[in-house]
Amino acid sequence: MKLSTRIGIVATVLAVFGGTIAFLSAGAETVAQTAAVRWESAAQCKSCHEDVFAEWQGSHHQIAYTNPEVRALSDDFRKEECMDCHLPRPLAVTGFGKRTLPRRTHFDEGVSCISCHLAADGGILARNDRPEVPCKPRASEAFLAADTCASCHNQHGTTDQWRASHYFKQGTDCAACHMPAVTRTRQDGSTRLGRRHVYDGCHDPATLRSAGKWDVTRDGDELVLALTNVGAGHNFPTEERHRAVDMLYRFVTVAGTGDWQRAWRFRMPYRDEMEPINPGNQPGENTQLPAGATKAIRVPIPADATAVEARLWYRLTPFCGDDDPRSTLLEERKVELR
Ligand code: HEC
Ligand code: HEC
Ligand code: HEC
Ligand code: HEC
Ligand code: HEC
Repeated sequence: MKLSTRIGIVATVLAVFGGTIAFLSAGAETVAQTAAVRWESAAQCKSCHEDVFAEWQGSHHQIAYTNPEVRALSDDFRKEECMDCHLPRPLAVTGFGKRTLPRRTHFDEGVSCISCHLAADGGILARNDRPEVPCKPRASEAFLAADTCASCHNQHGTTDQWRASHYFKQGTDCAACHMPAVTRTRQDGSTRLGRRHVYDGCHDPATLRSAGKWDVTRDGDELVLALTNVGAGHNFPTEERHRAVDMLYRFVTVAGTGDWQRAWRFRMPYRDEMEPINPGNQPGENTQLPAGATKAIRVPIPADATAVEARLWYRLTPFCGDDDPRSTLLEERKVELR
């Protein structure tokens, strides 16, 4: 393209833009208001919030409706009640803390920017009032409160568990752990602090490993396997009844290495499950580990044992073995006994 042609194009663009701006300012307030954007898709936020969009894209919030695990269990959403939280209408429309209602649009956006940020009157909810910014965010206490998460995250008591914990008393909310601070770069190159929108949880090994402190020690002729929930602001594991945390061990003797034994399983049983989670539990007893709590299991050490190996596993479903990709090895220890 010749330079003169380029200059010509730029001049035309500027003229059109200049005209529009002049028109808007001449038409005053009313024009600006009728021209206000109708926010209905995450795609509209992308051009200005590329970094937030990239974090959300691929997150479990974004895939909530397309996730193969969910599609399988919901019979491809023929179980319509599953749509309530996996393809929700905006929270502010149904009311923060109330169960969300399903929508029939933007299927690949699951829990989207619109679900959390849209105000009942069509505006954008945020921490600060920013009338000078194109999307005109407005401060909202209700939006910032943990009730925003509770609308969908209390079906299995995660929000109640958090409210009963020391984190609630000290003011450490869901976002403090699940939306850590990140640095964002503005278009002019300057930076500001933002909040990460990935919402790491049980699919992220580093987040899982931050939940527990595990000790494997010898106390006389007993082996002690002790797990403390030091990092989860609710039970560990939490949410879905499938989630399980297992403490395993096996003794090594001069004759060879024994089979893996399960010392303890932490899990919330299904409603109709009659088999207790661990020997000694009641049927229906929830063995998840509350925030700050410790569970220690003592196992007698066989006389001929020379060492013990121990492993701490996280399982997305209780029906999977150690080789299954849905099992994550959190910790591995070997303790010499001689
Ligand atoms: C035309 C550009 C543009 C579009 C489109 C846009 N925003 Fe913004 N938004 C901005 C700018 C600029 C800021 C200010 C960032 C800063 O602090 O420098 C901002 C700030 C925000 C804030 C933070 C306000 C605070 O508390 O300080 C939120 C939340 C927000 N936008 C949400 C959204 C959502 C959700 C969408 C889509 C529905 C959206 N925005 C669409 C430009 C845009
Ligand atoms: C009250 C809100 C709500 C409803 C209704 C709901 N879910 Fe969920 N679902 C969630 C939340 C929140 C999570 C994330 C927590 C978790 O992963 O344990 C989730 C996670 C899941 C997962 C785990 C996905 C993965 O990749 O591990 C599956 C599967 C699932 N839901 C299936 C269903 C099915 C099937 C239904 C209907 C019978 C349903 N959900 C109804 C809120 C809901
Ligand atoms: C409108 C419903 C809804 C709201 C509101 C919501 N979530 Fe979720 N969240 C879900 C669903 C559904 C999933 C699981 C989707 C899936 O795996 O398919 C999920 C998944 C998660 C996960 C787990 C990711 C993983 O690894 O599986 C975390 C952590 C999470 N949400 C935290 C939060 C926090 C913190 C808030 C409040 C700021 C919040 N969510 C608000 C519905 C919601
Ligand atoms: C599960 C609910 C949820 C979803 C989904 C969500 N947000 Fe947020 N967003 C929040 C919360 C809560 C804050 C925290 C505000 C604070 O503490 O300052 C926030 C903060 C922000 C901010 C200001 C902080 C920052 O990191 O810059 C922007 C901008 C923003 N969101 C844009 C978006 C966009 C764009 C999308 C979709 C791509 C989106 N959000 C999806 C809940 C959500
Ligand atoms: C002190 C930090 C902390 C706080 C506070 C916290 N979480 Fe978590 N959360 C974690 C850790 C660590 C994990 C991984 C271990 C686990 O699954 O319990 C996790 C896991 C999760 C998961 C994934 C569980 C699953 O099975 O899919 C969800 C969903 C979740 N948190 C939601 C919330 C909600 C909602 C709140 C507020 C009511 C909250 N969290 C408060 C640290 C925290």
